[in-house]
Amino acid sequence: MNTFLFMRKFTLGLVLLTLFLFSCQSGSKPEVNIIPQPQEIEIGNGSLALSGSLTINYRDDQSIKEIADYFTNLAKEQFDLNFVKSDDDFTANTLNIFYLGDKSMYGEEGYNMIINDKGIKVFAATDKGLFYGLQSLYQLMLTHKSENGIIVLTELEIKDDAMFKYRGMHLDVGRHMFPVEFIKKYIDLLALYKFNNFHWHLTEDQGWRIEIKKYPKLTEIGAFRKETLVGHGGKTPYEYDGKPYGGYYTQDEIREVVKYAAERKINVIPEIEMPGHSLAALASYPELACKPDNFEVAKRWGVFKDIYCTKEENFKFLEDVLTEVMDLFPSKYIHIGGDEAPKDRWKECDVCQANILREGLKDEHELQSYFIQRIERFLNDNGRQIIGWDEILEGGIAPNATIMSWRGTDGGIAAAKQSHFAIMTPGSHCYFDHYQADPENEPLAIGGYTTLEKVYSYNPIPDTLSRKESRYILGTQANVWTEYMETSKHVEYMVLPRMAALSEVCWTYPINKNWDSFKSRITEHFNIYQTLDYNYCDHPFEIETEEK
Ligand code: ACM
Ligand code: ZN
Repeated sequence: MNTFLFMRKFTLGLVLLTLFLFSCQSGSKPEVNIIPQPQEIEIGNGSLALSGSLTINYRDDQSIKEIADYFTNLAKEQFDLNFVKSDDDFTANTLNIFYLGDKSMYGEEGYNMIINDKGIKVFAATDKGLFYGLQSLYQLMLTHKSENGIIVLTELEIKDDAMFKYRGMHLDVGRHMFPVEFIKKYIDLLALYKFNNFHWHLTEDQGWRIEIKKYPKLTEIGAFRKETLVGHGGKTPYEYDGKPYGGYYTQDEIREVVKYAAERKINVIPEIEMPGHSLAALASYPELACKPDNFEVAKRWGVFKDIYCTKEENFKFLEDVLTEVMDLFPSKYIHIGGDEAPKDRWKECDVCQANILREGLKDEHELQSYFIQRIERFLNDNGRQIIGWDEILEGGIAPNATIMSWRGTDGGIAAAKQSHFAIMTPGSHCYFDHYQADPENEPLAIGGYTTLEKVYSYNPIPDTLSRKESRYILGTQANVWTEYMETSKHVEYMVLPRMAALSEVCWTYPINKNWDSFKSRITEHFNIYQTLDYNYCDHPFEIETEEK
């Protein structure tokens, strides 16, 4: 930690200690129900009551106008307030939104908020900062609305900024698919908790979900499966429901989602899986396999041996697909998967073996590395960067790849030690397809046991990294694999309230994290979930009695 950061954290510590002592002395608990916890909060004695109308002043700045309009539309749905635009800073009950200073003062995503009896000020150096300031205000308004509709806000001053650059939530739409309206509702949740990346897992063995104009069979055939496994995948004999299942997102729908996310300061990272988890593509175009066969889109969960062959034509196919993907997604990062690709077929394939010989590779792991490096070169040449699951370290990491560490933290550690960026998503803390409470009473899940407290306890920087190496840890993300989540309501249940805990892991400086405080604030957020019609687990504090 550099001296500046240390001093800053030391000062923050003092402020928090003072607040803590003050609250102990007075016996009253400051009620600032913001998640993730801001870095500095000072509470005054006054308050601001909002009723009737709220004047918004944004000094006619066009980019602030967009944020102000977004906030007004959001707030109009929940509060009985008449929103009025004004150019006069000094009007009573005014929400003033303005730029101030530069990034060295507030950070790329930081903001300040002042609430007193005269009104509210939200200021920042950037659009993102203003946006996050207004999310904090929205949470305060939602948790301080009284029965008669009047909102009474405590006098306070907040100085806030993000701990990690990358704060992500993933969603698998391959195993089960969710309507565009839900994808937007999910993105709204990301915005509420200041996440800035939505990792959209779009292709799977069980379904290809993104329209690709050049290869229409990917969705004509690959987006639909004949039927789906009933019950847990670990239990044989397999039983199927006999019902066809499928669907996909059109390019227009994808553009709509990307735009919706951008308005909420969220980047959408598409994932196109390769070389494994590609059975739906092989069912559409069997020639993509080492040994073409009568493939079916998968009907059950697991890992399948048929994967993309490393034949030359397949690079053309994947580059064509990625060209359309790049056209839809402005994201700097494109996720190319790379996980769980069995090498059985490559071992039996003349073309793959000839590639190993020609390239002087040691084995099939190095062949996977060759495959990923070719894809990386193509994407780099087009100005993009790849993210891959940690298996892409095997056989040698592609020169500019970012690693998403999921099989524990070793992959992220290895990447950082090789001066590669990493995003930490270890199963132990970040897999929201695990049970969050006693499995006896929970809907069927894949397994595991990842409680709210466990998520909250996570520190994405491993102890074993030096200060310099830890700079390669970009942040963290929760993964939401949907084998056992058939409905949008079930997805909501699995992510809430755990994503609130993760938001604090990736936004709040560790020195400002406090489980007891979080417990009290999250209970207030249950009311937000009810107001905004999100399903959630209302019993996340069950004691962990045994490892499940
Ligand atoms: C993964 O969970 N297979 C990345
Ligand atoms: Zn092959």
